[in-house]
Amino acid sequence: MSQRVIVTGGSGGIGAAIVERFVTDGARVAVLDRRAPAAEPASLFFSVDLRDPLDTRRAVGEAIAALGGIDVLVNCAGVFQHVSLLDITVDDWDLVLDINARATLVTMQAVAPVMLEARAGSIVNIASMAAKQGGGGEGHYAASKAAVVALTRAGAQEWGCHGVRVNAVCPGYVLTDMGADTRSDDDVRTWSAKSPLGRLGAPEDVAGVTHFLASPAGGYLTGQAINVTGGMIMH
Ligand SMILES: NC(=O)c1ccc[n+]([C@@H]2O[C@H](COP(=O)([O-])OP(=O)(O)OC[C@H]3O[C@@H](n4cnc5c(N)ncnc54)[C@H](O)[C@@H]3O)[C@@H](O)[C@H]2O)c1
Repeated sequence: MSQRVIVTGGSGGIGAAIVERFVTDGARVAVLDRRAPAAEPASLFFSVDLRDPLDTRRAVGEAIAALGGIDVLVNCAGVFQHVSLLDITVDDWDLVLDINARATLVTMQAVAPVMLEARAGSIVNIASMAAKQGGGGEGHYAASKAAVVALTRAGAQEWGCHGVRVNAVCPGYVLTDMGADTRSDDDVRTWSAKSPLGRLGAPEDVAGVTHFLASPAGGYLTGQAINVTGGMIMH
């Protein structure tokens, strides 16, 4: 049977590549996003504001019902702000933590009963290199992604004995809409030089690793936070 997959943030840069990767493999995919996918959808679409836990549970429930179950959850939706530590407001903190971290918990809670009952399932949370190496100007973003890694490990520890695996992917710099408003050509050159491979990541780089983690080939991996950074960080 083809995999039944939910991808949050599947209308955006990395999320759209993840959707395409699973669809190419014959999976049935439900996208949960606040905006519709730009391309002609090869997937189901459920409009949702992931900042709202009730709306999120509603959308996950509808997606599971439409798919007839769930094998894979990919939490990819996220927001980024470039703000120095002294200038982060409580509203900034709440927005970034609500969408990046709390919504990850809520979707994990929403799919877990079905996966635990089936004694099978794989969850892949898209964190960030910032979780391991939080940089200046993104303190609240780094904190939100560290929380995503912590939730990943907690899920792996609690649900592994029921056949459910939980892993995280930590991308480096990927040229998408995210951060585009504060990104200069100089930034791109500087960041590219940080990778031994001499380039930034593509959405497909993240999609390939995400797909691998959810596949049987990744069957002995759980609780991991895998860097997809072109070697910018190695721990
Ligand atoms: N682009 C990078 O350099 C980079 C690096 C490391 C990690 N990441 C992570 O990868 C993931 C995807 O990032 P991206 O670069 O594709 O970003 P993006 O901005 O291109 O896409 C993000 C998607 O999330 C959706 N989204 C945001 N808030 C939402 C909400 N409240 N409700 C529903 N949907 C919402 C957006 O509509 C969009 O489709 C994010 O979690 C991000 O933190 C990105």
